[in-house]
Amino acid sequence: MIRDLPSLEFQSVSRIFSGGARALNDVSFSIPAGGLTAVIGPSGCGKTTLLRMAAGLDRATTGSVKFIGQDGNVHSRASENLSVCFQDARLLPWRNVTDNVALPLELAGVSRDERSARAKQVIEAAGLSSAQARLPAQLSGGMRMRVALARTLVTSPDVLLLDEPCSAVDEFTRIQLDEEIRRVWQVSGATTMLITHSVSEAVWLADQIVVMSMGSIHEIRKVALPRNARDRASSAFLLEVETVMRSLARAAGVLVA
Ligand SMILES: Nc1ncnc2c1ncn2[C@@H]1O[C@H](COP(=O)(O)OP(=O)(O)OP(=O)(O)O)[C@@H](O)[C@H]1O
Ligand SMILES: [Mg+2]
Repeated sequence: MIRDLPSLEFQSVSRIFSGGARALNDVSFSIPAGGLTAVIGPSGCGKTTLLRMAAGLDRATTGSVKFIGQDGNVHSRASENLSVCFQDARLLPWRNVTDNVALPLELAGVSRDERSARAKQVIEAAGLSSAQARLPAQLSGGMRMRVALARTLVTSPDVLLLDEPCSAVDEFTRIQLDEEIRRVWQVSGATTMLITHSVSEAVWLADQIVVMSMGSIHEIRKVALPRNARDRASSAFLLEVETVMRSLARAAGVLVA
């Protein structure tokens, strides 16, 4: 089967919750097929609401969220091979690493042999082989997130939706997880939306950064640094981080020079 990676398009999306709270107001942006877009913005600006809509867990009040194939046809979400990773790992505490990673395949009715072969593959790639028989309580927080990322990958998704996968870990573990996300994205080739609070993570991983202010888009930036030449300590990288920081501060209504 030829893989038809979709782009993800948010078209004039507004979301008003019952009670009248307007969480999103006329939001439009597009994540190109196979691209990685980071979404950053102050707490409560509507990031998770956007991701939930892409995942089919919430609906736009007006406007639409569409997956569009390379032939220009709109895909139905049901036909989309889509994986979501939330900020807490959400592992089942009574299942070991292998059985947690294999869960999406089990739910999809994949045979036991194929499940264990595919789980083994992603567990090895995530450097978790020596921990495969452990229960979640026997893992560090960073390892738990790696298990959650491995589980996200086990179905070979075409679309990856990541909601702050690194928010619960320390800075050092985050840098390691960033590498993991980059590898996951490169291996899967998936069209990826990454919500993060970390500007340096966004600049490190993304080819496009959407800066949101409350309910709307403040700025859409292309990250011009070549991906294989990104160096967290280089002046070009730090300058890009500073520029995005300023944009975020303006979006949050914090005065900047
Ligand atoms: N089910 C709901 N009912 C009513 N209001 C909601 C609901 N879900 C979210 N909201 C409101 O919508 C706004 C956006 O919420 P959302 O969770 O998308 O923000 P966020 O940008 O992901 O924030 P954070 O960075 O803290 O995760 C908030 O004001 C929130 O209180
Ligand atoms: Mg959120």
